[in-house]
Parts: sequence; structure tokens; C-alpha cells
Amino acid sequence: MNKDWKLSSWKNKPAKHLPIYKDEAALESVLKKISRYPPLVFAGEARNLEKQLAEVVNGRAFLLQGGDCAESFTEFNPNNIRDLFKVILQMSVVLTFGASCPVVKVGRIAGQFAKPRSQETEVKNDISLPSYKGDIINKIDFDENSRESNPQRLIQAYNQSAATLNLLRAFAQGGFANLKQIHQWNLNYVDEGQSKEKFEEMAKRINECLIFMEACGINDQNVRQMSETDFFTSHEALLLPFEEAMTRIDSTTGRWYDVSAHMLWVGDRTRQLDGAHVEFVRGISNPIGIKVGPTTNTDELVKIIDTINPNNTEGRMTLICRMGAEKISSKLPPLISSISKEGKKVVWACDPMHGNTIKASNGYKTRALTNIISEIEQFFNIHRAEGTYPGGIHIEMTGQDVTECIGGVQEIKESDLKSRYHTYCDPRLNASQSLELAFLMSEFLKEERIRIQQTSKI
Ligand code: PEP
Ligand code: CO
Repeated sequence: MNKDWKLSSWKNKPAKHLPIYKDEAALESVLKKISRYPPLVFAGEARNLEKQLAEVVNGRAFLLQGGDCAESFTEFNPNNIRDLFKVILQMSVVLTFGASCPVVKVGRIAGQFAKPRSQETEVKNDISLPSYKGDIINKIDFDENSRESNPQRLIQAYNQSAATLNLLRAFAQGGFANLKQIHQWNLNYVDEGQSKEKFEEMAKRINECLIFMEACGINDQNVRQMSETDFFTSHEALLLPFEEAMTRIDSTTGRWYDVSAHMLWVGDRTRQLDGAHVEFVRGISNPIGIKVGPTTNTDELVKIIDTINPNNTEGRMTLICRMGAEKISSKLPPLISSISKEGKKVVWACDPMHGNTIKASNGYKTRALTNIISEIEQFFNIHRAEGTYPGGIHIEMTGQDVTECIGGVQEIKESDLKSRYHTYCDPRLNASQSLELAFLMSEFLKEERIRIQQTSKI
């Protein structure tokens, strides 16, 4: 058990980006209720994820983490969940087949509601109101009532997360993820572009492999991995009162687990060594991510890692780097070399989204696929040069046919953004763009795997 850590010890530290609730008694009563609700995930599942992430640390698997920037109450429907799940399955099979590498699948889903905002207030027509902070806190509509932090929304977020997880478990284990279903994973709207054709071609080859294996006596009846998959959930541990209410002692190990998700991460804006968010996550045993942006101080990061992972447990820490295509070449190499010199066992993941957000000339927040690809490519090259393993990717994506990021085979332009721009927060890759990335990454990863095999033979 961590020294001096208590479920509420985060309250003694400075906390950034926490909302203020006018009616504190109402908040307390909601939190009390939630603390008695059933867990959304189980400690054993979080330990299984940690084991799988330890494989990533050792270069034997790849982490694919993705989903909405912010889930919303209005966009909540089974088709959206199914379609995101489909794209993640597609991407993961592309990576597994293309690079012969197991993929650890983690959704930004079933709890990804709270958002840190750069501006405390939003001004429209001379009216200033609190910023929208995510559906678990307030409502996006621009009026005073909607923008007030409302504790009742915590209950709705819990319920939506529970229903989402229920469906995800059914998809992952109920036959949908069976490799024989691979043809069903394509989304109809994805154009007859290169990615769709490439995927169909790959699906045919996988089918041939399945027929061959069946003839050898290996099939979905006797090999679980062929008929079902592990799918984990994650979100930013931002709204600490909620996370505290969801944190329980695991009866098997006697350790604390935040049972709101398998993995939690601390955002780039709240990762201060002496801050409340780092204090909270150091006491929970779930795998923890830290967002690492261009302002990261290396010495502080080493101390953060020591604080959260004092035993240097493999699979506990994931560093999610989000430098941006322009800064990654100067910022990431010194960071990697210091962390490696200190012997820290971490998963190195690349978030190519948050350092590449731009404002289009028509005012839309967007991201260009060229910059996203550039950051990923540099991420792989930097790790090669440093002799470390590029272990994963963290992206904002959706299965919906949106036009939020520019570029890709559909050639989405600035002028197309308005056509289907649905995000509640940051712009997401659509299915076609996500698949395109997966094919590209499978090439990078394949080279990496060949390199690892060759060096291990020497
Ligand atoms: C996010 O992941 O949505 C986010 C806010 O990221 P970051 O903390 O890296 O800015
Ligand atoms: Co975001």
C-alpha cells in the first residue's frame, strides 16, 4: 500500500480543472450514491491489461487506444458504439496481420466525459458563461442554466458507461469479434478507396489462413483468441470526486482499484508532480497513463514516474507523448534518453492528435492527416534512433462518417468540415482515415519487428 495515501488525500493538493458545484450538499449526496454502485470493471481485468501492457514494454505487443475526445449524452446509441468497435477491430487486425504483432485494444470509451478547457469561460455576443466541460459536468448549450455544473449528470454518466460497457462486452465476447466475421467489420460508408480495397484483400488472405488452420485442427472452438477478443476501457482521470467514488478495495489483493475503467490517464494540463491528479492515481493499482506534451520537464517526469510506479512494475506506466509534428523531433529524443537512462519501464505511446490541432480559416478546430502521419512517422524513427520501442498509438476517432479532420483518401478539405462536424470537443478521425493510418503504421511496425528479431538473434 502506498505511503501516506488515502482515498481523499488528493484533496490536500492543488487541483487544476475541477468544476465548482454551487450545491455542495447535492454533490456529496450523489457521490455517496455512486460509491455504492456496482463496479464498471473488475480489478482482475485491470491486472490482465497490466500484463498485456508489460508485453508492450518488452516489444512483444502494440497498444491501440482510441475513441471520442468526449463522449456525449445525445450521441449515445448502440450504432455509434458498434461502429467505433468495428473500426478498432479493423485497425487491430491490420496491425496484427501486417506486422505479426498482438494488439492491446483500449477504447477511450465508457467514461470519457470530463474535459479540461483552456479557457474558464466562453464569450458569445458579449455574454460570458462557464466553458462546457463535458457532459458529466455541464451541458454544451450556451445558456446560464446549461453551463452550470450539475451533480445529477454524474449519475447519467455512470449509467451510460455501464450500458456502453455491457454492449462492448457482448461485442468482444459474443461472436462479433470472431475472425470469421471479418467481412462484417467494414463500414458501408467507407468509400471504395485504397483502404477499403486493401482491407478486403487482407480479409481474403486471413480467410485462407483460417481454412488452412481449420484443416490442421485449430479453430474458433478450441482457440479463444479466434472467436473473441479482450477489449479494455479508459478515460482521463480528471473529475476526481467521481473517480474517488468509484475507487474500491479489491478483495483478492487488498489493493485499491478505480473501477470506473481499466486504465486511467492524467492529462497534460493536470500532471503536476505535487498536484491532486498525480496524488490520486499513485494510490490506485490500475494501469496509468501520463500525457506528455512539449512543456514537460524531464526531471519532473522522472519524479512523477517514481511517485506513481515506485517498484518500476512493467505495464503500470504508459507515457502518451503528444508533442505535435513540429516539435517532436526536438522534444522527444532527450526525454526518451533520460527516461531510458533511469531504467524506467514504460510503454511509449504516440498521441498524434493533441499537438496538431489547428483552427481552419472558417473557424473550425481541425487536424490535418498529413501532420498526424508526420508525427507518427517521426515517433517511429526517433525510437529507432534511440534504440527504444514505439509501443502504441492513442487517437481520437469515431466510426461515424464525420468530416472533422482534413485530408485522407476522401480528401476532406477545410470547406468540407461544416458538412458533418459532430464532435463535442476535439476533431476526430473518421473510419476511413483511421484505417488509412492503421495500414501505414503496420508498415512502420513491421520494419520495427524485423529489426527486433534481427537484433535478438545477434
Ligand atoms: C485529451 O486526450 O482529450 C486531452 C485533453 O489531451 P491532453 O491532456 O493531451 O491535452
Ligand atoms: Co481531445
